[in-house]
Amino acid sequence: MGQPSPARTQGEWWRAAVIYQVYVRSFADGDGDGTGDLAGVRARLPYLAELGVDALWFNPWYLSPMADGGYDVADYRAIDPAFGTLAEAEKLIAEARELGIRTLVDIVPNHVSDQHPWFQAALAGGPERELFHFRPGRGAHGELPPNDWPSQFAGSAEPVWTRMPDGDWYLHLFTPEQPDLNWAHPAVRQEHEDVLRFWFDRGVAGVRIDSAALLAKDPDLPDFVEGRDPHPYVDRDELHDIYRSWRAVADAYDGIFVGEVWLPDTERFARYLRPDELHTAFNFSFLSCPWDAGRLRTSIDETLAEHAPVGAPATWVLCNHDVTRTVTRYGRTDTGFDFTTKAFGTPTDLSLGTRRARAAALLSLALPGSVYLYQGEELGLPEVELPPGSIQDPMHFRSGGTDPGRDGCRVPLPWAAEAPHAGFGGEPWLPQPADWPAYAADRQADDPDSMLGLYREALRIRRTEPGFGDGPLGWLPAPDGVLAFARPDGLRCVVNLSGIPAELPEHSRLLLTSGPLDAEGRLPQDTAAWLRG
Ligand code: GLC
Repeated sequence: MGQPSPARTQGEWWRAAVIYQVYVRSFADGDGDGTGDLAGVRARLPYLAELGVDALWFNPWYLSPMADGGYDVADYRAIDPAFGTLAEAEKLIAEARELGIRTLVDIVPNHVSDQHPWFQAALAGGPERELFHFRPGRGAHGELPPNDWPSQFAGSAEPVWTRMPDGDWYLHLFTPEQPDLNWAHPAVRQEHEDVLRFWFDRGVAGVRIDSAALLAKDPDLPDFVEGRDPHPYVDRDELHDIYRSWRAVADAYDGIFVGEVWLPDTERFARYLRPDELHTAFNFSFLSCPWDAGRLRTSIDETLAEHAPVGAPATWVLCNHDVTRTVTRYGRTDTGFDFTTKAFGTPTDLSLGTRRARAAALLSLALPGSVYLYQGEELGLPEVELPPGSIQDPMHFRSGGTDPGRDGCRVPLPWAAEAPHAGFGGEPWLPQPADWPAYAADRQADDPDSMLGLYREALRIRRTEPGFGDGPLGWLPAPDGVLAFARPDGLRCVVNLSGIPAELPEHSRLLLTSGPLDAEGRLPQDTAAWLRG
């Protein structure tokens, strides 16, 4: 491995970082019970170091009944026994740090598990009721929910209220096992700031904030009226005060935040990234953008323009644990491109999707800012169509079985082609498809043309070239359907999305391509190149 660039080792490391998302349950199973765990991650740290990532973001690993894959937290200060212990988490954080890899944890402030002691005490009629949103129902006998808000789970017709035996209802934007907290209550704010300190004290470098724009609610909990401003629970102004206090906590540790902020309004989105609020937020507009040169360029320009006034670096995300995997999404030609389309049986051309995903990897890694990489993306894993009987995601059940949910991107990873369960560990909690060994990390490791080979090489170059990462970007003249831009130090990236092979700039040296050039040395369709000069 080359020498780490200065930006990576000191100062504002997060402005140019490559952050690898670990969905622990499906990463690697160290104890053979079929569920991924911290022992599995610790054993694979050398793999992650060799891949060349700067940090790991762990999906929630806390004590949880797993009604929503751990996004239903019963105790923020304990690791779920299925994953390991707090002592192991501390070791993992320290061991990763020794390899130059930082750790980010995931905090879920909008709601807790219905098994959380606060909610249990609330159910028992204690003053903890004030920490949630309990309300009498409407109708003559209170038999109707207090308002008409829609569920946050796409395709779900289920109400966001559940009635208690005493007649009152409680609010849950997600499942009934995830009661929403009342962020107007000072104890809720105090507890979360303590939880942040708890994890910063254990050496984490940052925190991902789940559903970051949903916490604050209109205290009157009015019905939802299309277009009414402010929205009763999305992107309310009160949130900024909350995040300013969080920032003060993080600053004492040099910790950073990345917010999960899905907002169509770019000016409103950028408010979360003001210098005294969150450092970064996921850029979902790039993830949702079709494989089309014009639209990608617009998405990139808009992203950079919206971040510039607040001085925050952009993030580039192609995939995560909630969306259809990249090679499948880019391989769907008949439905257009919709990252929420998870329909069973949608025709997919995986070789096309893989070619595009390889080009998209070089595109996103050449853009200014930080990049998120979801486990298995570096192996080119496709979305899996699970047999309906194996699906566990609550989104599937809350859609009445019409939406396959998000398990198709959460299937346990293949590590070793010849080993049982492709080297994951015990019988996996979600079944792996028959062709999983073909994607195994050990099968790709020595093949420079594999997806893993491409990611390793791209990350190696990116690490040694400070010109990639944060900094300016200048578009270069290019034919229709071709994206070409310059970065500092003479670095260039060219991506051809057109059907016509593209000439590469003269007098430039090729650093890496996502696929072979044609016989005339031109860049074929759905291929990207990095060059210098
Ligand atoms: C976020 C998470 C998702 C979870 C939801 C509720 O969107 O990414 O997985 O279901 O929040 O916590």
